[in-house]
Amino acid sequence: MKKTIYTLVAATVIASLMSACSAGGDNPGIEYAPNMYVSFAYEPLSQLEEKPNTINPHGMNMREPVKGTIARGQLEYATYNMPKSNENYEASSAWSNPLPKSEYNVAEGKRLYNINCTPCHAEDGLGKGTIVADGKYPQVPAYGDRLPTINPGKAFYSITHGKNLMGAYGSVLTPTQRWQVIHYIYELSGVQTASSAPAPATN
Ligand code: HEC
Repeated sequence: MKKTIYTLVAATVIASLMSACSAGGDNPGIEYAPNMYVSFAYEPLSQLEEKPNTINPHGMNMREPVKGTIARGQLEYATYNMPKSNENYEASSAWSNPLPKSEYNVAEGKRLYNINCTPCHAEDGLGKGTIVADGKYPQVPAYGDRLPTINPGKAFYSITHGKNLMGAYGSVLTPTQRWQVIHYIYELSGVQTASSAPAPATN
């Protein structure tokens, strides 16, 4: 008899220990050895505000990318990424337009030019855009006069960083779009460059 009572008591105690009383829904009940579930390791993709990382900069779990790291798909930005300076303006002369002067690139250049550049440079590229005609803005050079004194590399640099009264378009147009616009303004003004002139016949 005693034996049966002990067995019953033991069974009840074990059963109540094993059943997680308040478990259910989002509540896992009592966790045995919670360290097995909740990691003490820093999770690189989740940042707990109350647990700043004491080793990495800015309390971040994620390591900072190595200096000079280029984000996927951004290689062309790195190629032309030079700060604004007179020396770099001169150095940009070495760049030639990497895009073929295809119908598509010129048409895309025209579309972007008409959106971004016409208020000053005008649709015909003569520099008498609406804000210039209003007399609110000083003279804008005609491409036919200016482009022969520079080259596509310098045009790219000036579009990227701006020049005197002209604003910078580096954050507005991607490098590809800037080169497309350059194809278009050379076409528009009829100015020939080494890169926009037809390639010599080879045979
Ligand atoms: C707010 C008016 C304005 C807008 C908008 C503008 N420009 Fe200009 N642009 C100027 C002025 C003014 C100059 C002459 C700058 C100087 O030499 O002092 C100039 C000069 C240039 C030059 C010659 C740069 C050089 O190195 O001599 C190019 C090329 C050019 N612009 C292209 C563009 C293109 C392409 C766009 C549109 C993406 C554009 N500009 C938008 C006002 C403007």
